[in-house]
Amino acid sequence: MLLRAFTTALLSLSLAACATLPAPQSTAAPTPTRFEAGMVSAADPRAAEAGAEILRKGGSATDAAIATMLALTVVEPQSSGIGGGGFYVRGNADGMVDTIDGRETAPALAKPDWFLDSDGKPLPFREAVASGLSIGVPGNVALAAEAHRRHGKLAWRDLFAPAIRLARQGWILSERGRDFLLRNKATGMRDKAAAALFYDAGGEPLPVGTKLTNPVLAETLERIAERGSQAFYNGQDGADLAIAVARDTPRKATMTEADVMNYKARYRKPVCGTYRAYKVCGMGPPSSGATTVLSILGMMERFDLSQMSASSPTFWHLFAEAQRLAYADRERFLADPDFVSVPVPQLIDRDYLAHRSGLIRADKTAETVEPGLDLIPPDGDEPPENGTSHFAVVDRDGNAVSYTSTIEGPFGSGLMHDGFFLNNELTDFSFVPEKDGLPVANRVEGGKRPRSSMAPSLVYGPDGKLVLAVGAAGGGTIPVQVTKSIIAFIDWKLPIAEAIAVPVLYSPDDTVIVEKGSALEALIPGLKALGHARVVAYSLPLKTNAVAVTSQGLIGAGDPRSEGVAVSQ
Ligand code: GLY
Repeated sequence: MLLRAFTTALLSLSLAACATLPAPQSTAAPTPTRFEAGMVSAADPRAAEAGAEILRKGGSATDAAIATMLALTVVEPQSSGIGGGGFYVRGNADGMVDTIDGRETAPALAKPDWFLDSDGKPLPFREAVASGLSIGVPGNVALAAEAHRRHGKLAWRDLFAPAIRLARQGWILSERGRDFLLRNKATGMRDKAAAALFYDAGGEPLPVGTKLTNPVLAETLERIAERGSQAFYNGQDGADLAIAVARDTPRKATMTEADVMNYKARYRKPVCGTYRAYKVCGMGPPSSGATTVLSILGMMERFDLSQMSASSPTFWHLFAEAQRLAYADRERFLADPDFVSVPVPQLIDRDYLAHRSGLIRADKTAETVEPGLDLIPPDGDEPPENGTSHFAVVDRDGNAVSYTSTIEGPFGSGLMHDGFFLNNELTDFSFVPEKDGLPVANRVEGGKRPRSSMAPSLVYGPDGKLVLAVGAAGGGTIPVQVTKSIIAFIDWKLPIAEAIAVPVLYSPDDTVIVEKGSALEALIPGLKALGHARVVAYSLPLKTNAVAVTSQGLIGAGDPRSEGVAVSQ
């Protein structure tokens, strides 16, 4: 009861913050760089509060983001956690940006035929997910340790306190949490330990309002808190993780203790570009996030979007066409840069994007869309997923962290180890190693990181100061959610809560998908009239979180399609 009341209080706190939003935000006033209180936006109120608690104790944005990631492992186990990986984008108020890649790696023994059956055919997707074949070496703990080493202020162990408390003392199962358990019963119940935590003896999810605890996870977190990241990757814990994955893998080749022990989070060069007078920075390969966001923005820039709105069919048509072009490049070129040469500068080059934008006509749909650079072989398929969570933090000094964390699909592989779900991130690789006789860039290889769509982003204003930390969950839709929110924030000057709420149109190929139940459904005939042959309304897995810096201070928001909230320090 207490916890429920606490959550309600947080929600009203967040709604109160939204109610005082200035509309529209002025971009002309000087952007503040110090604040009375920092802010955390996350997909679950308990996790946002965990981050805010760390800010109150004097923690940095990085400290708070790590605490939020750990708390999400407990309270949103279907989406992300220490059994998965993530990308961390950190910037100071003036635009110095660092990025760390905590993406999972394939075992060293993995080969391009990893997801093929004995006849050389791709395994059925669900079969691949629900086995050790899908599990990559988790990266979030190594990422957190690296980020903390560079930008932490509080002691490492302090960052674990809120998550350990939640796991030990309990959290309340929400309607959304139960819905995930219900819809993903097969994965959620695959492991006896997981089934015992979340389902009753008859296999039904526990009722909404149940106080859940996860003492095994509390102990795991305590070990990492006390002994550092080596408690996860080295010694008996690392060996046990590899053994658990091997036991679940229907192959002789599998994850080994050495794979776990050798895992390294990697610093990557941030990928930054401009959109109008703004600088947008994000995560480069192995994520396709920043290149895809910048590519769509770069193609949209020549259109006067300030004269359009979310109800303008022309806007959505242009947005669909820009997406088709950007995703064609993404499909072909994006993969792990340690294995494949990814032409990042060319893909976001202004002249190149102006040329690509020239292929877009306002009155007509392009019949076919091809990648624009003739450099490397084509890329392959990508499955849908929605087991991801984004969180954004801005601290009192104006330092920001935009961090997207994932276990890939709901409950990841369904294998629970030491109280957390192990990811199924390797299914983000192409199952097909060759296409048209040529190797696919995102094919499986030993030690490689699968391509991601995650797009944790930071936006800097015309004065060079931070204006927005934003990111999303939702598989391939992630770059589109982020781009749409940035356009709504910059061109339409919408308060960030409204920018996030603007509906989504997703058009990675020749099918245009509009968000089911949104106002965009009414635009379907208009889009068809412009030549889009297939326009459908689907429920999309949408979940954006952001914190904006305005002339009035920090304003955060969660996605109205989720339980997401922003909590002030
Ligand atoms: N698994 C989500 C992503 O990396 O895009």
